[in-house]
Amino acid sequence: MAQLLITGGAGFIGSHTCLVLLEAGHNLVLIENFSNSSPEALRRVLELAGPKAKSRIQIVEGDIRNSDDLDCAFSIASSPIEAVVHFAGLKAVAESFEDPLDYWDVNLGGSRSLLNAMRIHGCRTIVFSSSATIYGYPNEVPISENALVSPINPYGQTKAAVEQLLADVAASEPGWKIARLRYFNPVGAHPSGLLGEAPHGTPANLFPYVSQVAVGRRDKVEIFGGDWPTSDGSAVRDYIHVMDLAEGHSAALNVLQQEAPQVLTLNLGSGRGYSVLEVVKAFEKASQKKLPYIITSRRKGDVACSVADPDLALKRLGWSTRRGLEDMCKDSWTWQMANPDGYSVEIQSLI
Ligand code: WQD
Repeated sequence: MAQLLITGGAGFIGSHTCLVLLEAGHNLVLIENFSNSSPEALRRVLELAGPKAKSRIQIVEGDIRNSDDLDCAFSIASSPIEAVVHFAGLKAVAESFEDPLDYWDVNLGGSRSLLNAMRIHGCRTIVFSSSATIYGYPNEVPISENALVSPINPYGQTKAAVEQLLADVAASEPGWKIARLRYFNPVGAHPSGLLGEAPHGTPANLFPYVSQVAVGRRDKVEIFGGDWPTSDGSAVRDYIHVMDLAEGHSAALNVLQQEAPQVLTLNLGSGRGYSVLEVVKAFEKASQKKLPYIITSRRKGDVACSVADPDLALKRLGWSTRRGLEDMCKDSWTWQMANPDGYSVEIQSLI
């Protein structure tokens, strides 16, 4: 097993992936600024991973843009960092239009600092959290990795820029092992209800918003557009259970560790699209709650349909999604019922 550095390991996808990596026997150093996450998530990761995991995780409260914080993270472990899993970043599409300077600083500037620190500390293996957002308006669906990269919002532009930076670094010197994982729509929660999605403020994404309507925190779902060229007029997305996504990261890491230096670019999606109205109906079934909704105008930057061609991930990783929409809704609802206000419990002693 390996000594890993995880950036953003307390976030929604990061926390679920840290659990999977601990269960796989890895030792983790996390660097986290907790700007959009909670230490409580890490306490619960340890609760789920079991008492022996406590000695296999170290946490550095710091920022990936700060070289001193990165040096601390690379040096704190008892053995050298062998690989990095890079989640830390800003990821709200609408916010990226309002605050591009922060998005470019954190997502690209932070990634550049991280890669520089990796070179200094002799680590050249990285799994990067990319996004299907970089495809913009797809020319065809399902979307393969060869599709045109043409982002339509600053968030997507930053992800595409980091992908390019990774390719340039790999070409500049030998030995780099890089996986660029293009997530479609991550949703759901750990089935225990201890880990889940806890966006700060009003959720921008569909699943947490629907979940908050079901638990009574919001009064109705606003469906952005009922006139899309789809079966029921609402937009279609490829939702992927966060546990499937976490397992995909572990599989990608294993392949990088076993194979020769390369840049591996993969879609992580199910290949199955669901409309907004289908999601609402599925969530009503999972929660046994009637979910009020109104259909309003389309949201800026949305596309009609975004669904992955998942074949390359199956071929290269032997990985594919195992959980369907029913599991996503059931696990989201279990999390939301147990944590109506998210990780509201802030703990003093972290770990
Ligand atoms: C899904 C569908 C909305 C909210 C985002 C970002 C990015 C990426 C994936 C990481 C769309 C509709 C939504 C609501 C709605 N994550 N919707 N009412 O925009 O497909 O992608 O998540 O890379 O964060 O690209 O996800 O959940 O915002 O929207 O009708 O209140 O639900 O129009 O069709 P999106 P989403």
